[in-house]
Amino acid sequence: MPDYSHLPSPCYVLEEAKLIRNLELIDSVQQRAGITILLALKGFAMFSAFPTVNKYLKGIAASSLFEAKLGREEFGGELHLYAPVYRSPDFSAMLIGATHVSFNSLSQWAQFKEQTLKAGVSPGLRINPEYSPVATDIYNPASPLSRLGIRAELLGDRLPEGIEGLHCHNLCESNSQALELTLAQIEKLFGHHLPRLKWLNLGGGHLMTASDYDCEHLIRVLTDFKARYPNLDIYLEPSSAIAWQTGFLLATVLDLIPTPDSTIAMLDISFTAHLPDCLEMPYKPKVRGARDPKKGEAKYRMGGTTCLAGDFMGMGDYYFAEPLQIGDAILFEDMIHYTMVKTSMFNGVNHPAIGIIHSDGSFELVREFGYEDFKNRLS
Ligand SMILES: Cc1ncc(COP(=O)(O)O)c(C=O)c1O
Repeated sequence: MPDYSHLPSPCYVLEEAKLIRNLELIDSVQQRAGITILLALKGFAMFSAFPTVNKYLKGIAASSLFEAKLGREEFGGELHLYAPVYRSPDFSAMLIGATHVSFNSLSQWAQFKEQTLKAGVSPGLRINPEYSPVATDIYNPASPLSRLGIRAELLGDRLPEGIEGLHCHNLCESNSQALELTLAQIEKLFGHHLPRLKWLNLGGGHLMTASDYDCEHLIRVLTDFKARYPNLDIYLEPSSAIAWQTGFLLATVLDLIPTPDSTIAMLDISFTAHLPDCLEMPYKPKVRGARDPKKGEAKYRMGGTTCLAGDFMGMGDYYFAEPLQIGDAILFEDMIHYTMVKTSMFNGVNHPAIGIIHSDGSFELVREFGYEDFKNRLS
């Protein structure tokens, strides 16, 4: 393992070379399939990396006023808006610089139609395809009673006057077969609208940078679909795929607590505050240099730093070839997407620093946090 003793702990560390590798693959998919791939800021909004990302992608998807502003200030290019519900006081500010906006309901479209058309932003509707391969309810946007997207029966035979596109998001870390099924379902339920539209946004959840993703199949599926609907500009707006496996969260062992079952490594990070998906999904992240313990082996449970009883890695323990010592570094892999954007300062724990290992191997400390960041969110 490289020596990371010069890095501050805790720290989210983006490995730039891995990000560039993902972006090159994503760019080749968009070129070959003749589509446009946007960065959805909800999962990856580390704007110090945007100068690298926007060499390959020509726009972003924003789900709030703040994401839209960040996109305008730090990314530029096409700005696609979608939020489950827009607040009237925010909406006109969101439209500034926007190119596309999707509405979650017919009533929101009716409320904001005039403003949208006056601003010259291309309007669309989010649809619920009533199909999703996602088994975890909290990440399944297309369940029958979902609040996300309009069901076909509510749309009827004709789209409202002025609508130019449809938006569908029903995938999460999914493969190209799931997209193929999604497109079949869209054609079945909404196919009669497609020939009259200008664009179709197929949301996120396309994990094309995962090692087992079949990009050739994805390109074929998209190319075939485009051949049937040459009138449509096709957009994908992933987050995870862009930042997939592009860095780690560096933590340090502060204490070791023996229990009759395992030794608990008390860390300077918190699962609930800094790796929330590990508890939400839940899942067990990889730790560099560790593996699952075999029966009878010494095992370590990773413990977080807050007072929450459940602030530990409950999905399983780890085995290390060398016994852990206080002061050892622990690297949680793949901690760049859906981490920094979701963190909190619960218990007053400091936010991990943010840094980049550049392609030439040099480390740049981009940002450190402190007491003022904690205080500024409270009153
Ligand atoms: C509307 C929408 N677009 C894009 C995304 C990004 O999805 P992913 O990070 O899985 O690619 C999400 C994730 O929830 C979403 O809700």
